[in-house]
Amino acid sequence: MADRLFIFDTTLRDGEQVPGCQLNSIEKIEVAKALESLGVDVIEAGFPVSSPGDFKSVVEISKAVTWPTICALTRAVEKDIDVAAQALQYAKRKRIHTGIGTSDYHIRHKFNSNRDEILERAIACVTYAKRYVEDVEFYAEDAGRTDNEYLARVVEAVIRAGATVVNIPDTTGYCLPEQYGAKIRFLRENVKGIERAILSTHCHNDLGMATANTVQGVLNGARQVEVTINGIGERAGNTSLEEVAMIFKSHHEAGIETNINSQKIYGISRMVSSLMNMPIQPNKAIVGRNAFAHSSGIHQDGVLKHRESYEIIDPKDVGIDDNAILLTARSGRAALKHRLQLLGVELEQDVLDKVYEDFLKLADRKKDINDDDVLMLVGKDRTAMQRIKLEYLQVTSGVGLKPVASICLNIAGERFEAAASGNGPVDAAIKAIKAIIHRTMTIQEFLIQAIDKGSDDMGKVHMQVEYDNNLYYGFAANTDIIAASAEAFIDAINKFVK
Ligand code: KIV
Ligand code: ZN
Repeated sequence: MADRLFIFDTTLRDGEQVPGCQLNSIEKIEVAKALESLGVDVIEAGFPVSSPGDFKSVVEISKAVTWPTICALTRAVEKDIDVAAQALQYAKRKRIHTGIGTSDYHIRHKFNSNRDEILERAIACVTYAKRYVEDVEFYAEDAGRTDNEYLARVVEAVIRAGATVVNIPDTTGYCLPEQYGAKIRFLRENVKGIERAILSTHCHNDLGMATANTVQGVLNGARQVEVTINGIGERAGNTSLEEVAMIFKSHHEAGIETNINSQKIYGISRMVSSLMNMPIQPNKAIVGRNAFAHSSGIHQDGVLKHRESYEIIDPKDVGIDDNAILLTARSGRAALKHRLQLLGVELEQDVLDKVYEDFLKLADRKKDINDDDVLMLVGKDRTAMQRIKLEYLQVTSGVGLKPVASICLNIAGERFEAAASGNGPVDAAIKAIKAIIHRTMTIQEFLIQAIDKGSDDMGKVHMQVEYDNNLYYGFAANTDIIAASAEAFIDAINKFVK
């Protein structure tokens, strides 16, 4: 019989720490519900002491979700643990995730402390968390670079204090797969009482080895993996859920099974990408646009004769429906609703009607509507409440002409108009916006992407704007890339102009 591997999803905590990927509570609930139907065992819903928004999200997710355990992160600080316990009050199953850095880098430079003191603090935080909940997970931050003998002492002590799960994070993504696997094996072989706790992997992808390290951890005895949808997370990201789930689904000989309903993978992957405005790289394993696209003639011929000649996973197994009805200007509401359901989105009838109206407008301008377009239309509804809106934008540009933009912004119901010229049409549009919003703002990053093939595709613009020493993220999609650029700039401004 296969061994059960628990899936701990941290998209809403470690994943959400990425600048520009912040979600509001409603969006987090949407993701949490999708994670529940995907079959994850644990949802790390946030770090409640870090902000009132995180606290609220943990409360709301606890109320909205039934089956998965809801987990809240803390430092090894009593106040953090008090706040986490309060945020978890409505969770049907709850876990506190507490811990401290154990590598010498952390002990000396972060805490200005020593190994014995850190060991005491580790025991103290678990003991304190046990006052509130039975299920306490301890993390040994930077375990990847922690000396194994000392790590074993810490793990043994926290299990004695009542930790039910012990997380061994490779916080900096430094370990080689062989080293990480050996670390887990060392703990299994040298920690007294190890059978009373589950060992968990938590790998970062700085050297592109997060999934390989996680797999080695599992093959050496870890029975929980901490992962995110699409591998999102700080810097190069975390281990991606879909990769781990499909690796163990494909390799039966490993004798590991998860509770993941793999057919829901594609939908949630698109949902998270769209809500977090985080594009998926086209060649990303399992969920990238090209993951199942065979372009070479030899491969296409092979797949048509016998799919398994070149495909190790049936795309349908991860929820990619090749035969899905194409969405065009002639599609009805039912077809749109069906497509949204495949993408894990359920809408009330009135919202569906509104999205359908926008869909028809877009379909007039663009022949085939793809999944990203559909999710973007759903997202439009979320920005309808913004304080600053673009009413119109007119641009003249061309060879031998000086680009000029005229713009009208609606700010809290009042209309403001301005015109400006620039070295290109986008520059002119941005300068016209700046002529209305008198703040010192600098665009730090500006990315235009066309997702599909044709010249009628939507241009998607991602932008980072610096204002008052902070970075704000803006996103917009439009078949007109100059309009998309102006809208992305306005989206970012809406984050700081209240
Ligand atoms: O990477 C890490 O060490 C973490 C811990 C806080 C669990 O995210
Ligand atoms: Zn992490």
